[in-house]
Amino acid sequence: MGSSALMNNYGTRKITLRKGQGVWVWDDQGNRYLDAISGIAVCGLGHAHPAVTKAIADQAATLTHCSNLYNIEAQEVLAERLRDISGLSKLFFSNSGAEANEAAIKLARLFGHKKGISEPAIIVMENSFHGRTLATLSATGNRKVHAGFEPLVRGFVRAPFDDLESLKKIASNNRNVVAVFVEPIQGEGGIHTPSADYLSGIRQLCDDQNWLMMLDEIQTGNGRTGTYFNYQHYDVKPDVVTTAKGLANGVPIGACLAGEKAADLMQPGSHGSTFGGNPLACAAGLATVDTIINDELCEQARVMGNYLKQQFASNLAGSANVVEIRGQGLMLAIELNEPCSDMVDSAAAQGLLINVTAQSVIRLLPPLIMTTEEADQLVDILSQLIKQRA
Ligand SMILES: Cc1ncc(COP(=O)(O)O)c(C=O)c1O
Repeated sequence: MGSSALMNNYGTRKITLRKGQGVWVWDDQGNRYLDAISGIAVCGLGHAHPAVTKAIADQAATLTHCSNLYNIEAQEVLAERLRDISGLSKLFFSNSGAEANEAAIKLARLFGHKKGISEPAIIVMENSFHGRTLATLSATGNRKVHAGFEPLVRGFVRAPFDDLESLKKIASNNRNVVAVFVEPIQGEGGIHTPSADYLSGIRQLCDDQNWLMMLDEIQTGNGRTGTYFNYQHYDVKPDVVTTAKGLANGVPIGACLAGEKAADLMQPGSHGSTFGGNPLACAAGLATVDTIINDELCEQARVMGNYLKQQFASNLAGSANVVEIRGQGLMLAIELNEPCSDMVDSAAAQGLLINVTAQSVIRLLPPLIMTTEEADQLVDILSQLIKQRA
């Protein structure tokens, strides 16, 4: 399969997936794979989860879409659910992560203008990823993502990740800064978890400077790292949080949540979306969020993540090509000492779907519902492949 009618931005794709159930997917040849990437951190409940399937079917049979010209019940309930989980005040629904981040960037600019700053700037990090729209690719700290799309959107100042001193230096030099925008764990950049005091340090600095602390939890949110949002591992509350990916288990949706400092900046006409928060997406989102909470899947992600790290550590002990096994919850990485993109194909040939990012980092984002038996299969296949290369 593959069609010349599609633009080439994804390159050549080798597998055609037809069906999924739990952590398993099947291709058009009938081959079965253990899906350890979940559509890149999207299908946290696995494939064809009955609660989400039912919510989608019921909503599609009732009212798939109506515009934001009208009240949407599922949107209101999902917003209140996320408000309660996050401890923040209000939110805006988008259709994707990049759009949720666009809303956050717009909030920062509104916040700056309100303070009388005509050229507001946002501190963003090296090696970050925030999306592919023009503003979010400009915020992204990866030259490859910028290439060919210049001129970039202005108003971003870049700092090294996990370096509070560099943020303080910027604070003393740049009077236009209004916000810090950061992934609590860098995902596309290679699964980098910052020091334990990083987020609280940013919170303190944002309080001192009257900046917005904005977290991109597009990938880390929705239970993936062992708490509903990653910041809940720490004693901090950000001003703005974005999420998407795992929010509706595969139905496109994103959200930009805001606490008191930013919740009332948007006014009628400031922002909007035709599809954002429509009945279908919100019904799927509600079923997903309720399942994550009721089935205690945040806790399961924490337990299973620790189990996987232990199993990989013992299986790969002494493997000279393994640089580090790292991550939090079910957002895990095995970094090798050489480029290893070819492992995507060799793993698929053994019935395992993985991803390689930052050239040499095997990224694992399995469904939160994965059982110990399935985790053991993942460890066996992947450890053997890694050891074969050593
Ligand atoms: C941290 C982060 N932010 C933003 C995005 C962009 O999300 P989307 O592809 O839904 O626009 C991603 C996607 O990988 C991401 O990982």
